[in-house]
Amino acid sequence: MRPAPQWPLPRVFAHRCGGALAPENTLSGLRIAAALGFRAVEFDVMLSGDGTPWLIHDETLERTTNAAGRVCDTADAALQRVDAGSFQHRAFAGEPLPTFDAAARLCLELGLMANVEIKPAAGFEAVTGEVVARRILELWQGAPLPLVSSFSEAALEAARRVAPPLPLGYLWVSPPADWQRRLDALGGYSLHCAAGKLDDSILGAARAGGVPVLCYTVNERTAAQSLLARGVAAVFSDRIDTLIGL
Ligand code: G3P
Ligand code: MG
Repeated sequence: MRPAPQWPLPRVFAHRCGGALAPENTLSGLRIAAALGFRAVEFDVMLSGDGTPWLIHDETLERTTNAAGRVCDTADAALQRVDAGSFQHRAFAGEPLPTFDAAARLCLELGLMANVEIKPAAGFEAVTGEVVARRILELWQGAPLPLVSSFSEAALEAARRVAPPLPLGYLWVSPPADWQRRLDALGGYSLHCAAGKLDDSILGAARAGGVPVLCYTVNERTAAQSLLARGVAAVFSDRIDTLIGL
């Protein structure tokens, strides 16, 4: 079985919620993406010390918040007090770190399709895949399910085990020679990779196998147009303001 999203893939996904227009992985980013007319967003999900899924990219809090330490060692009560906006610009001071639940509810309210990237801290791969996949089935009940991706094979396998209907994307920086076999074994839907690592042999094989290819991170309009013309299905972008109307 190879479940596909119940929504047409848009050509552009706002990367980390709202790309560079808002602090990454925040609710402000989701609102900005929707306000600019984008229909789909990508964001990263990791477990806290309490095992709750939150939106954050790094394993540590330093780069994107005013707190410090490892996300997987930090309790929910502490994450609730974090400022995840000031690092970007003081106009976003006080922006909360969103829980996955809050982000999911806002996506549903704004009509945004989501690519949920499971971003497990090292050592928490399977449990993160399980928790996030189970939560998706609860949060999106009756609505078209998000596309779920990860660099972690263990996380994807765990997600598949607990949530068979989820569409899965296999994420690599550079797809390995046996990417198709591994995607098939997972019952995966799409191949996600770095735009600079994509070559025509991968694209040709993907097209022949009916596998959509999604590329990150594409921040120039001409680069996005060229990838889409070559047969890439969609791009993830931080500069969604330059990709309006693609
Ligand atoms: O899912 C595509 C892209 O987000 C993967 O890279 O590091 O930005 O999560 P990263
Ligand atoms: Mg990501």
